[in-house]
Amino acid sequence: QLFGPLGAPKYDEYATDIKASGEHLLDVINDILDMSKIEAGRLTLELEHLDVADAVRDALRLVAGRADIAQVRLNNEIGVQPPVLADKRAVKQVLLNLLSNAVKFTETGGEVNITAEASGGWLKVAVADTGIGIPAAHLSKLGKPFEQVESQHSKKHKGTGLGLALSRSLVEMHEGVLTIESDEGVGTTVTFTLPLAATH
Ligand SMILES: Nc1ncnc2c1ncn2[C@@H]1O[C@H](COP(=O)(O)OP(=O)(O)OP(=O)(O)O)[C@@H](O)[C@H]1O
Ligand SMILES: [Mg+2]
Repeated sequence: QLFGPLGAPKYDEYATDIKASGEHLLDVINDILDMSKIEAGRLTLELEHLDVADAVRDALRLVAGRADIAQVRLNNEIGVQPPVLADKRAVKQVLLNLLSNAVKFTETGGEVNITAEASGGWLKVAVADTGIGIPAAHLSKLGKPFEQVESQHSKKHKGTGLGLALSRSLVEMHEGVLTIESDEGVGTTVTFTLPLAATH
């Protein structure tokens, strides 16, 4: 009983840290497993008619705590959209990765906007932040496994460098495209497309 009698607040704190570390490790392992599966051509999609606005709400709930701590505003401006033909788990994972990045790479007082637009058989979803941005020289390299930009900010926020690569692969498996636009010091917008159910 190194930190006093059982029941002392310290134990609570450590238990919380241990749980968070465990969850983080599980996320990393799952990302690596997913990447391996995709590269081996073994990840199959279960396509269904899906409301992306629902998936956005779910993903927002998962990053709300982190956004609160970072004092980053999350604006859900997706509105009502026609259903897409997509794999629910994949769409959630893409949204979660993009929203996590947007929150992680945005300083206090910044914001993240989620919008969508249907046209020509595709739903185009954009996650835009007012964060640190990505230097032009790095932009073309991102979206490949383990590519990360070294900066003071990123050193404070450890990650594996798999989120974007996974997201791009998952979107491309749906025949969609994922694009990253960024201005250093101004912000980043990641856009991806998914096939509309009605036309595919
Ligand atoms: N919204 C963003 N703003 C600024 N930089 C970004 C943004 N999204 C991604 N990046 C840059 O791209 C790199 C790769 O992103 P990715 O999501 O693949 O990895 P990660 O967030 O570092 O780790 P992981 O997602 O595996 O936990 C990041 O390390 C960061 O340098
Ligand atoms: Mg990430």
